[in-house]
Amino acid sequence: MVVNFSFVFLVSVLILCLGVTSEPVQDKQALLAFLSKTKHSNRIQWNSSTSACNWVGVQCDANRSFVYTLRLPAVGLVGSIPPNTIGRLNQLRVLSLRANGLFGEIPADFSNLTLLRSLYLQDNAFTGPFPPSLTGLTRLSRLDLSSNNFTGPIPFGVNNLTQLTGLFLQNNRFSGSLPSINSDGLNEFDVANNSLNGSIPDTLSKYDASSFAGNLGLCGGPLPPCNPFFPSPAPSPSEPISPSTSGKKSRNLSTGAIIGIAVGSAFAALLLLLFLILCLRKRQRQPSKQQKPVAAGARAVPPAEAGTSSSKDDITGASTEGERNKLVFFEGGVYSFDLEDLLRASAEVLGKGSVGTSYKAVLEEGTTVVVKRLKDVAVSKKEFEMHMETLGKIRHENVVPLRAFYYSKDEKLLVSDFMRDGSLSALLHGSRGSGRTPLGWDNRMRIALSTARGLAHLHVSGKVVHGNIKASNVLLRSDQDACISDFGLNPLFGNSTPPSRVAGYRAPEVLETRKVTFKSDVYSFGVLLLELLTGKAPNQASLGEEGIDLPRWVQSVVREEWTAEVFDVELMRYHSIEEEMVQLLQIAMTCVSTVPDQRPSMQEVVRMIEEMNRVETDDGLRQSSDDPSKGSDGQTPPTESRTTPRSTTP
Ligand SMILES: *[C@@H]1O[C@H](CO)[C@@H](O)[C@H](O)[C@H]1NC(C)=O
Ligand SMILES: *[C@@H]1O[C@H](CO)[C@@H](O)[C@H](O)[C@H]1NC(C)=O
Ligand SMILES: *[C@@H]1O[C@H](CO)[C@@H](O)[C@H](O)[C@H]1NC(C)=O
Ligand SMILES: *[C@@H]1O[C@H](CO)[C@@H](O)[C@H](O)[C@H]1NC(C)=O
Ligand SMILES: *[C@@H]1O[C@H](CO)[C@@H](O)[C@H](O)[C@H]1NC(C)=O
Ligand SMILES: *[C@@H]1O[C@H](CO)[C@@H](O)[C@H](O)[C@H]1NC(C)=O
Ligand SMILES: *[C@@H]1O[C@H](CO)[C@@H](O)[C@H](O)[C@H]1NC(C)=O
Repeated sequence: MVVNFSFVFLVSVLILCLGVTSEPVQDKQALLAFLSKTKHSNRIQWNSSTSACNWVGVQCDANRSFVYTLRLPAVGLVGSIPPNTIGRLNQLRVLSLRANGLFGEIPADFSNLTLLRSLYLQDNAFTGPFPPSLTGLTRLSRLDLSSNNFTGPIPFGVNNLTQLTGLFLQNNRFSGSLPSINSDGLNEFDVANNSLNGSIPDTLSKYDASSFAGNLGLCGGPLPPCNPFFPSPAPSPSEPISPSTSGKKSRNLSTGAIIGIAVGSAFAALLLLLFLILCLRKRQRQPSKQQKPVAAGARAVPPAEAGTSSSKDDITGASTEGERNKLVFFEGGVYSFDLEDLLRASAEVLGKGSVGTSYKAVLEEGTTVVVKRLKDVAVSKKEFEMHMETLGKIRHENVVPLRAFYYSKDEKLLVSDFMRDGSLSALLHGSRGSGRTPLGWDNRMRIALSTARGLAHLHVSGKVVHGNIKASNVLLRSDQDACISDFGLNPLFGNSTPPSRVAGYRAPEVLETRKVTFKSDVYSFGVLLLELLTGKAPNQASLGEEGIDLPRWVQSVVREEWTAEVFDVELMRYHSIEEEMVQLLQIAMTCVSTVPDQRPSMQEVVRMIEEMNRVETDDGLRQSSDDPSKGSDGQTPPTESRTTPRSTTP
C-alpha cells in the first residue's frame, strides 16, 4: 500500500516536473490572445506564468506539447471570436464554447483546425451563413451549431464531413431546401426550428419528424407529403408566351395577334397584346368551370394554398399544350373529379415500387383513390394512350380496375380504386409475433384461388402479362377475396428497366431475356403460393442465407427433412389441413419450374386449385382453440435455424 502510494506520488511529481519544463508555447500565446480580446467572467484565471496545460478548461496531449481540448462552456464569454486566436490551435481535438454570449461570424481560420473531432458552439448568438470554414474539417464527428442565429442554406459541403455521427443545427434561421446529406453513420440529426422549405431528401427521411419540426416549408419523408403529383421544376421563361398560341379560344385571338403584326405594330405592342390575351383567357375560363369538370388541365388555378402555389403555377404551364393534357377516365367508372381535385387532395405515400410511387389520395368530397406516379416512362404519348386503352378495358372481380390516367411531359399518373383492407404482404408479414391475428388457412386458400383467377383473366381475356406479381400487389377486398393491381406496366418502360426489380419473384429466364411473359407470371405466382404456405417473404434476408431464393429453399427443405418443416408456423394450429397444404405445395412447385415450358398455364393453375381435395369447413372449426400441446406459436418449434438447410454453410 505504502509502496504503491509512493510510486503514484513519484509519477505525479515526474509529470509535474515535465509539465513545468514543457509547454505549448505557441498555443499558449493563442489562448492568451483570445482571452485578452474577449470579455469573460472571473472564473477563468489563466496565469501566464504557469503552463497553459494546467489552466481551467485546457487539456494538452501526453507530451504537453500542444493543446488538445479547450472547453469553456458557460463562462460568460461575450463578443466575437477574434481571428488568429483559436484558429491557431491547430492540434485541437475538442472545442466547446457553448452557452456563452458569443456573436458574429465564425472566423475563417477555423479551417486550420483540421484535427478537430468535436465542435460545440450551441447556445450563443452567432450569425452569418453556415461557416464555410467548417466543411473542410473532415475529421469532425460531432458538430453542434444549434440555438444560434445562423442564416442561409445548409451547404451540400456538409457531405465532406464523412465521419459525422451527430449534426445539430436546430433553432437557427437556416433557409432554403435541405441538401442530400449522406446519413450513413449519422446517428443524430436535427434541423428543427429553422426556416427550411422543400422536400426532405430520401437520405434524411429516416429521422424522426421531430428532427424537422418547426420548419413551415418542409414536407415529405416523416412529415406530411409534399404536393406529390407535380413538384415540377421551375417553368422555363418561354412558357408564359405559349398559352396564347394554343387552345381553342386563344387560337381565335392569336389570329388577332397575327393581324396585329400584319398591321405593323411594334414588338412591344405584340407583347402588350399577348398580355391582354392572357387576361382575357383567364376571365373567359371562370364561367366554363362548372361546365367541363374533366378538362382540368386547361384551367387557371386558384391561389388558395400558398405553400404549393408555385408548383400549381407549373401545372398551368404544363397544360399549355391545351386540352390534350387532362385526366382521362375509362368507361364504367364511378368517379367524377378532375385534376384540380386531385391536386387539392391530401395524399399519403402507400409505397415506393420499381415503377413509381403510389399515393393514397383523399379528395375533398371524400372519395379515396390510389394515384401512381410512374417514373422513367420510355414510350411516346401515343403508345402510352394506346396501352392505357388496353389496360383500362380489363374488368374482373379479382383485378383492381384502372380508372383514369394522366400524361404530360413531366408527369404520368394512373388512378385506380383504393382497397381499404391492405395488401397480402402486410397481412402475411406485418407485425408478426406481436399478438396479431394470423392469416388463417381458409383465407390463404381463398387468396390463392382469387389471385389465380384474376391473373388467368389478365392472360386469357386481356392478353396482358402482369409482369410484377408480388404480395404487395395482391390487395384484399372487404370480402377477403384478393385483387391484383399494378398489372401490365412493363411495356411502358422499354428495355432500359429490368422488368421486375423484386428479385425474389422473378423467373430465372427473365434475368437474361429481360422480357416478362405469361410463363414468368406463372413462376411469380408460384413464389406467391410458396409465400402463403411458408409465411416467408421471398427475399433472401428472410431465408437467412445469401444467394438462395424461396423455391430453392423449399426444395432443399423438402428434400432433406420432413415436409411439414416448410410450412408457416402460424398454420400449425389448424388440424387436418396437411393434405391440402401438400397439394398446394405441389401446385406451387410446378409453377416454379426452371424451364418455362414445364410450368402450367394460369387457367390450368386455377383448375388445379379448384379441384383440390378440400374439406369444406371454416377456420373456426379447424382451429384448435384449447389444446396447448399442439396449438400456439409458442409450442410449435418455429425456429428458422432449424428449418434452414445448413448443408451449404461450411
Ligand atoms: C501566477 O503563478 C505564479 C507562480 O505559480 C504566482 O506566483 C502568482 O501569484 C500567480 N499569479 C496570479 C495572479 O495568480
Ligand atoms: C512525445 O515526444 C516524443 C519526442 O518528441 C515523441 O517521440 C513521441 O512520439 C511523443 N509522444 C506523443 C504521444 O506525441
Ligand atoms: C492556416 O495556417 C497557415 C500556417 O499555419 C497560415 O498560413 C494560414 O493563413 C492559416 N489559414 C487561415 C485561414 O488563417
Ligand atoms: C437573431 O437575430 C434577430 C434579428 O437580427 C434578433 O432579433 C434575435 O434576437 C437574434 N436571436 C438571438 C438568439 O440572438
Ligand atoms: C472538402 O474537404 C477538402 C479537404 O479534405 C477541401 O479541400 C474541400 O474544399 C472541402 N470542400 C468543401 C465544400 O468545403
Ligand atoms: C423548437 O421551438 C419550440 C418553441 O420555441 C420549442 O418548444 C422546441 O423545443 C424547439 N425544438 C427543438 C428541437 O429545439
Ligand atoms: C424556399 O425558400 C427560398 C427562399 O428562402 C425560395 O427562394 C425558394 O423558392 C423556396 N422554395 C420552395 C420550394 O418553396
